[in-house]
Amino acid sequence: MSDQPPVASRESRAQVRQMLLIGAVASAVGIALALLIDWFPVPASEQAGPIDTLWDVLLIASVPVFVLVETIVLYCAIKFRMKPGEELKDGPPIHGNTKLEIIWTAIPAILLVALCTYAYVVLTDIEKAEANSMQVRVVGEQFTWTFYYRGENGDEIASPQLYLPANTPVNFTVQSKDVIHDFWVPSFRMKIDAVPGIDTHVRVTTTGRIDEYPVVCAELCGLGHSTMRQSAHVMSREDFDAKLEELANPPEQGGGGGGGGGETDGKTLFTDAAQPTACGSCHTLADAGTTGTTGPDLDDVLGDLSEEQIRQSIVDPNAEITPGFQPNLMPRYGDSLSEEQVDALVQYLMEVKGG
Ligand code: CUA
Repeated sequence: MSDQPPVASRESRAQVRQMLLIGAVASAVGIALALLIDWFPVPASEQAGPIDTLWDVLLIASVPVFVLVETIVLYCAIKFRMKPGEELKDGPPIHGNTKLEIIWTAIPAILLVALCTYAYVVLTDIEKAEANSMQVRVVGEQFTWTFYYRGENGDEIASPQLYLPANTPVNFTVQSKDVIHDFWVPSFRMKIDAVPGIDTHVRVTTTGRIDEYPVVCAELCGLGHSTMRQSAHVMSREDFDAKLEELANPPEQGGGGGGGGGETDGKTLFTDAAQPTACGSCHTLADAGTTGTTGPDLDDVLGDLSEEQIRQSIVDPNAEITPGFQPNLMPRYGDSLSEEQVDALVQYLMEVKGG
């Protein structure tokens, strides 16, 4: 080797420096943009903090890798493109570069091992069992969730919506009656598959933030997958105890108590997408102004059904299936609706049929 590097070599070093400088600036801009984006809904669990930090660290580690690779590709494509008159030119033959190859293998390997270790530590930490966890059984089916609480006398209390006390560790046991679903409250950040035949578990500790958060199904589970949405209500301990009491002893029919156990207007139960029933998301019914096509068109079939058949179709739909429609698509509402709610729905449908 000569003492003075040839002119071409000095020039190429300058090019590499220029390329790295552009890459560094672009990485800084990329990281800033990535961190500015509001990726997730409001955090509502103790687990959300560490997960959001993990996400930010992943962004800080991966954005520069992406930006650097793209910078090199673009820089080379622009800087070293073929110019007129260079059609027959060729670069010097190269036989690899051991130093460079070691560097570009070692850096990603170290980065990956470090990130995996960090993610593993975060995961084991947030999934740690907590003493005095509240137990909730979550059952998914096409296309609804039902939540079961343990009552004072040991009986299970079913609820079509998820109610949780604030600042409480909760251990969810998740099950499925039919196909694979996935129990997910985005604000809690945690999710887990509901798999037929086995119990899966997920832990969440609620914060003091009293609010309502969407519960969604995160596994494509059939035609009504997108309608499998309910609400998680995080409430004060007193409100929660009162709600559980109310679910365990649904108000008597005709009993004057306002603010009873859920909606009892048949048309609202049918039409309102916020109701667990939301019949209209699957069924067409002119009177309700709904146009769902997953289940039978009620404008067509209602006229042929007796009151008893309508009731059974709501409470236990698979006992008898309308010919031409798949079994199992309609959820059983026998467990999750109060008698009053079933009566209200049947009454509404009978009215529509009669009118
Ligand atoms: Cu259940 Cu998607």
